[in-house]
Amino acid sequence: MNLDKLKYKPVKILPNLGEITSVSPSNIALVKYWGKKPVQIPTNPSISFTLKNCHTQTSISFKKSNSFTFDFYIDGKPDTSFIPKIDSFFNRIKDFTPFLFKYQIQINTKNTFPHSSGIASSASGFSALSLAITQLEQKITDISNEDKFLKASYLSRLGSGSASRSLYGPCAIWGHHEDINNSNNEFAIPHQDIHSVFKNYQDTILIIDKGVKKVSSTDGHNLMHDHPFSKERFSQAKKNLKETISILKKGNLEKFIAVTESEALTLHAMMMTSNPYFILMKEGTLSVIEKVWEFRKSSDVPLSFTLDAGANVHLLYPEKYKQSVLNFIEMELIVYCENQQYICDEVGSGANIIKENYA
Ligand code: DP6
Repeated sequence: MNLDKLKYKPVKILPNLGEITSVSPSNIALVKYWGKKPVQIPTNPSISFTLKNCHTQTSISFKKSNSFTFDFYIDGKPDTSFIPKIDSFFNRIKDFTPFLFKYQIQINTKNTFPHSSGIASSASGFSALSLAITQLEQKITDISNEDKFLKASYLSRLGSGSASRSLYGPCAIWGHHEDINNSNNEFAIPHQDIHSVFKNYQDTILIIDKGVKKVSSTDGHNLMHDHPFSKERFSQAKKNLKETISILKKGNLEKFIAVTESEALTLHAMMMTSNPYFILMKEGTLSVIEKVWEFRKSSDVPLSFTLDAGANVHLLYPEKYKQSVLNFIEMELIVYCENQQYICDEVGSGANIIKENYA
């Protein structure tokens, strides 16, 4: 991949101070990224639905300074728990964004989804932060809008792999696949060729467990290195990606259900067969899966599930079945949700800048 377009080429002088606010959503993978090499290179390609309601809003305010410093706030309060991750992110991006290091910056962030809901904020968080940074770059360079998003996806990947996909909706592909034009390991590309049924596909997230995961995604990815089934898994993911692209285009719900549920269970099967092995699903996760299968058999609703690296269950279905699925959740699934909590989301269009000012 020729990464020349990612180089910083200033043509104007840096503003003395300013503030940029961006919004970026979470995403849910249909074909899962699980396994990576340094630095943040996926061992298989993945595709996701970009979400709409679960998002992060991030403002960076910056002031010229002789030394770079940053402060981080969540919901208006200083937070130190994310500092090491953000610090390593800044180290990774510094050669691409030298302008950033001429400032003292303050990062203010808030999520629309509850802080401890088991929903990872790293995808929406790093993509929102990266887009705010490339927006500042656009202020002082001739970078096009298209390349601004491309670079934001590249930077996001260095924060968290799945974050690279959050920039674009309704779907995004990250990782090289020889049959997919422009697909590559460094940044995600938008995927828009989808049937109308998927344009507002619903994702209702059942919060089965709010707790902190016993094994982080990063540790889980690393366990794929010596995994006995990794080779098979990586080629299966490639095959599933091609199939998913065709399913998304044709709107074939039966096949959609088969591939996405298989992906979810394979992801967790990889965890259960790692060395050391681990399980992130909870009893409630399995009970919900059983109930979904029963419901699908006894109704004509093409409801399916997927999982990320945790116990929560994402219920996927066409918009026209929203009321019947919500009734089903209220009647039969809510007992498995921690504090009866679930979040209604749907396919969305990606990240945006909502405010900027400079002096
Ligand atoms: C199971 O992107 O959270 O959700 O790159 O280490 O930050 P890091 O991992 P992360 O992994 C996401 C894994 C997944 C599948 C997916 O989103 O594709």
